[in-house]
Amino acid sequence: MSDKHLNSHTDPENNTHSSDDMALRHNSASDGQTMWGGRFSGGPSAIMAEINASIDFDKRLYREDIQGSKAHATMLAKQNIISDADLKAILEGLDQIKGEIERGEMTYDAALEDIHMHVEARLRELIGDAGARLHTARSRNDQVATDFRLWCRGAIDTIDTLYDGLLRSLLTQAEKHADWVMPGFTHLQTAQPVTLGHHLMAYFEMFKRDRSRLNDCRNRLNESPLGAAALAGTGFDIDRHMTANLLGFDAPMANSLDAVSARDFAIELLSCLSISAVHLSRLADEIVLWASAAFGFLTLSDAFSTGSSIMPQKRNPDAAELIRAKVGRIMGAQNGLLVVMKGLPLAYSKDMQEDKEPVFKAVDDFELCLTAMTGMIDDLKPNKDEMATAARASFSTATDLADWLVRELNLPFRDAHHITGAIVKEAENQNIELKDLSLEAMQAIEPRVSENIFDVLSVEASVQSRTSFGGTSPLNVQSAIQTAKKDLS
Ligand code: ARG
Repeated sequence: MSDKHLNSHTDPENNTHSSDDMALRHNSASDGQTMWGGRFSGGPSAIMAEINASIDFDKRLYREDIQGSKAHATMLAKQNIISDADLKAILEGLDQIKGEIERGEMTYDAALEDIHMHVEARLRELIGDAGARLHTARSRNDQVATDFRLWCRGAIDTIDTLYDGLLRSLLTQAEKHADWVMPGFTHLQTAQPVTLGHHLMAYFEMFKRDRSRLNDCRNRLNESPLGAAALAGTGFDIDRHMTANLLGFDAPMANSLDAVSARDFAIELLSCLSISAVHLSRLADEIVLWASAAFGFLTLSDAFSTGSSIMPQKRNPDAAELIRAKVGRIMGAQNGLLVVMKGLPLAYSKDMQEDKEPVFKAVDDFELCLTAMTGMIDDLKPNKDEMATAARASFSTATDLADWLVRELNLPFRDAHHITGAIVKEAENQNIELKDLSLEAMQAIEPRVSENIFDVLSVEASVQSRTSFGGTSPLNVQSAIQTAKKDLS
């Protein structure tokens, strides 16, 4: 996946995994320098530090943490809770820390637990007392809830752009193949002919809904927990509307207890990704099936297939198979977080620190899947003849024949269905397609059948006749594509 896609929330530097990482944690944990250590005489045990620390993963929140701190400090100064000189030092210090993190200069230490304390500790190192004033009227509880909402919002915006790419790729291919005939299936049995354009546009509709579902999620999560403090709000004269506004939130969250303990925004994001990953897996599965020799509908591009180490003739659809599989992790993340949150009393509990990893991982996986799927759709090489041949097999126009009997002979559909069954049986006995059956053979079953029945028996005629709204006729597909294009622009 390109850097561009992940840029808003990748980890610029990972320097916690050095070989003496454990030693560093153990030493730091036992020197009593924790930020909350005022009433503690001994430091935490090394194992306590180990289980408590989230820095290994929540360092990904550094940008949002600094953004949140800047907004908080700006508000504190405007409300005369800190001085303008302190604000200036805080803003400059935070910018410097951002640069240090991005250049990989930050040293991570499990004793400092999480990204919030790392940034704050470094700020105090850089600017002293002014840095120590930043946490006035704030708690890590509202801080982390704010950071995580900002991160999820950024992830949603990245994914929205990726959806745009996938939708455009599907449209391009649907337009190219608007009238290519292929079999439509029910129960994976050939049912009626459809067009490839129509089939691709079905996925367009799914991903369009997924995208709008994700935007609904964004709208609901875009409220600011900042200023809820630990759980009860604060006695300082803060301005939560101002910080909400500075951070691009629509409003401050209405209830401080809810603000620090809600994680339904993250669960909702994972639900959106799970549903969409299911759609991706269905499309991926069709690519796998269609690329098999038994179907032969597609030739996989070199870019999205691999060879076999033993069978030189093989071309394996690995990317599609992996997209089909990744849904397991994404649904697992959703389920995992639901279980973490189940039964938690208000307000914050440390359990909630377990919210980030599943979301980070699921977002990474999902972005990768969307990007790979877009690449595969761009490279799609359908085989026109194989698709059309398969569309003609299995008497796929039998419904058209029955419809003709209803329309031309005014038969009730059930009777037409019965007669058609007998005609299909005759074609099956003669081992030919319906359109190749003689008029006499059909008249032996239903004497009123006339020559013009042959007009409806070809797969091309069949798809062209399906002009009901949302049906597969190439004209419908073209107009769906035009509507979709307007939608996207
Ligand atoms: N690292 C913590 C988390 O991710 C931050 C909040 C800690 N709050 C606390 N009261 N210990 O949830």
